[in-house]
Amino acid sequence: MSAKAPTLLAPDRDGIVKAARLLADGGLVALPSETVYGLAADARNDRAVARIYEAKGRPSFNPLIVHVADMAAVERIAEMPGAARRLAAAFWPGPMTLVLPLRATAGLSPLVTAGLPTVALRLPAHPVMRAVLAAFGGPVAAPSANPSGRISATRAEHVIAGLGAQVDAVLDAGPCAVGVESTILAPAPGGLRLLREGGLTREAITNVAGPVQEDVTPGKVEAPGQLSSHYAPEVAVRLGGAAQPGDITVGFGPGAADLTLSETGDLVEAATRLFDVLHAADRLAADRQARAIRVSDIPDEGLGRAINDRLRRAAAPR
Ligand code: TXA
Ligand code: MG
Repeated sequence: MSAKAPTLLAPDRDGIVKAARLLADGGLVALPSETVYGLAADARNDRAVARIYEAKGRPSFNPLIVHVADMAAVERIAEMPGAARRLAAAFWPGPMTLVLPLRATAGLSPLVTAGLPTVALRLPAHPVMRAVLAAFGGPVAAPSANPSGRISATRAEHVIAGLGAQVDAVLDAGPCAVGVESTILAPAPGGLRLLREGGLTREAITNVAGPVQEDVTPGKVEAPGQLSSHYAPEVAVRLGGAAQPGDITVGFGPGAADLTLSETGDLVEAATRLFDVLHAADRLAADRQARAIRVSDIPDEGLGRAINDRLRRAAAPR
């Protein structure tokens, strides 16, 4: 762990080359993806991967997502059943993670998969992340760049506030476009299972792959990281119901509120703003010594499903 503040890198050639060099040297670099910022390290380097768990305070039984630049790298790491191929063709690069059988020859640190026979793989769309992956030339393990159980980071400032000097560098490419994490899917012989709602909507998946198995039950742990309390601000979160005096209110659609996810009731905008608004609500709650953040109801469709999943976990008993 370094004692100094992380180096800030720009999203230009120089920043990309420096980020790739730090990864090659076993460093921890926060990288922008289209979903959220990731805390990246060389997925083949045990010591570097161990530093991810240490920096986040993440339990070692919770495996990491591996990010790669192209399909050739996917094929080297995992077996691709037909269903996975169809999903990859439709949605990669993009906000989708596939849980696939791990090849024995993949060369990943065993810490990445936490001993599971499967690996979570993602081919991200963010041009800066893709440029770093190409310059580095290897698989990159990257969980969301927040302390374990806390609000995810969609801006470089969130990363610095949450992880600070534990990260060697932060590549700042501005706010993330999607704003919620990738959708996690597991193609299995019995059908396609949805392990985490996310930036790729269930409706889009169904159009390409047919029905997905309804495996996302609140409180049920499918992906080991889907513990019920997650994305938690410092103060309590309440969903729906009447605002109580002194609450910090987060609105959706027109109407008075301290902070608003989308004035027009647009779910895409609300997803983009979700974590930034939760970070801001937390700061406001501290300033006003409020006891709770009260969030308006969000429709449970499209990206609203991923938003509601995050909000339910943010509101879950700790
Ligand atoms: O959008 C995203 O997915 C971001 C960006 C940085 O890529 N990453 C992210 O990582 O959200 P993280 O670590 O916060 O969430 C990864 C989730 C965890 O719930 C973990 O348990 C699950 O993926 N996971 C990883 N490997 C798995 C596996 N082999 N089987 C099932 N779940 C797995
Ligand atoms: Mg996370």
